[in-house]
This record gives sequence, structure tokens and C-alpha cells, in this order.
Amino acid sequence: MIVLLRAEDLYVDISNVEILRGVSIKANQREVIGLIGRNGAGKTTTFKTLMGFHRPSRGRIYLDDRDITTIPTHLRARMGLSYVPEDARVFPWLTAKENIDLAIYLAKNQDKADEIWERILEVFPEIENFMDRFGYHLSGGEKKMVAIARALATTPKYLLLDEAFEGLAPVVVKRFRDAVRVISQDLGIGVVVAESNVNIATMIAERVYVIERGEIIFEGSSSEVVRNENVMKILRGA
Ligand SMILES: Nc1ncnc2c1ncn2[C@@H]1O[C@H](COP(=O)(O)OP(=O)(O)O)[C@@H](O)[C@H]1O
Ligand SMILES: [Mg+2]
Repeated sequence: MIVLLRAEDLYVDISNVEILRGVSIKANQREVIGLIGRNGAGKTTTFKTLMGFHRPSRGRIYLDDRDITTIPTHLRARMGLSYVPEDARVFPWLTAKENIDLAIYLAKNQDKADEIWERILEVFPEIENFMDRFGYHLSGGEKKMVAIARALATTPKYLLLDEAFEGLAPVVVKRFRDAVRVISQDLGIGVVVAESNVNIATMIAERVYVIERGEIIFEGSSSEVVRNENVMKILRGA
């Protein structure tokens, strides 16, 4: 079986405006992909379309070679697609542990809870230290860890992280780069990170796509994109 998340030539209209125009991306399991684009370029719309919140007017989406283009969101989630939205909120009056246990419960994964917790602590051993702290009292980086841990609670094959690292200090971003590597390499989960910040994206991802006005304008390695003056100019808004 070919294990792959693949979007082919996606067109998406929202209120009669063409927001995505021929977006094609693919991600292997064990790969970290970046989707880079300025604000409004179409990153979130791409993720929402992969998840089934938007129905493309053209194009197909495949998960492990199965066409999921018309499959409802909850079934895509069950098939292994997990999405962490930009504004992923940790419940403030639940502890870190309760936030994660709730996600395990909602994913109907109670029977695998021990195994899931083991994986989560393999990725983020830090969580052990603030397990019993209320969400309200967690730092920005700690909240991100809980948000990603909740996504892991759904035992995904692919993880879509929408601007998850925005506003974090560079040293914290490095910590997340290492965590994302454990998620992809050790847990075998394909990770796609959407970022408007090129530095963050190229720090975390091996291969990147650049999206501009709903079109993919570049595909290549992280080191290639930063050397491409034309693309960098567009990303800077020049
Ligand atoms: N629900 C919506 N209604 C109208 N326009 C939308 C809606 N969602 C997104 N858009 C528009 O689609 C474009 C892409 O948005 P989005 O995918 O959120 O970009 P990004 O995540 O890259 O910042 C923007 O111009 C945005 O205004
Ligand atoms: Mg967005």
C-alpha cells in the first residue's frame, strides 16, 4: 500500500470567489512538509479542504491511495487526518492532563489511552512537569504542546499544523522542530505545517510548497526556497 496524503489540482470557491486555484501537494508518512504563504494566500483553506470543511469544485484528495474527496470530515479524522487550527484553544479550566484525556475520550481511544500517553510523553516529556496545571496557567509554548498532544490523541497518520509556531521564541521553535522530528521519524506520522514565517517553516520542514493567491508557485527543499530570490520577494510582499 502506498501511504500518502495527496491533493491534486484543487479548486475551491468561497462565496463565488476562487480561493484555491489548482493546488497540488503531497506528503509521505515520516515526512515534514511546509506550506508557506503570506496572510490570505490560502493555507488555512487548503487545510480545511483536506479535512472536508470545504468541498472543492475541481480536483481530488487521496489518503493512502483512497479517494476521500467527498468523504465527510469525521470519517477523514477516523482515517487518520488530524488538524490543529491556528487558534487551537486549550481549555483554561481543565488541567493539561484533562485536556489530553478529553481528546482521547472524544476520539473513542480510551482502550489505547496508555499507549497514546506513552507516545505523547515520548514527543513532549515536558508535559509530565505541568500535567496537573490548568490550561489558564500554561505558557504559550506549553499550550502548543498540549494542542499538538491532543491531536496525537486521535492516533493520526497525518498531522496538519496551522501556524502552530507563530510568536514563539526561536529557541522554543527549535524545541518544536525536534518534537516534530520525533512525530515524523519515530511515530511515522506525516506532518504538514502551514506558516507565513519562512524562517520558522524552513527550520521545521524538509520540503516546502509556497502558496500565493491560491496557487502553488514553488516546490522544493527548505534550502532551495530561501535561495530563490523571486519567491522570497513575493513572500516579503515586495
Ligand atoms: N469563509 C470565508 N469567506 C470569505 N472569504 C474567505 C473565507 N475563508 C477564507 N477566505 C478568503 O480566502 C483567502 C485565503 O484565506 P486563508 O486560507 O485563511 O489564508 P491563509 O491561511 O493563508 O492566511 C483570503 O483572501 C480570505 O479572505
Ligand atoms: Mg491561515
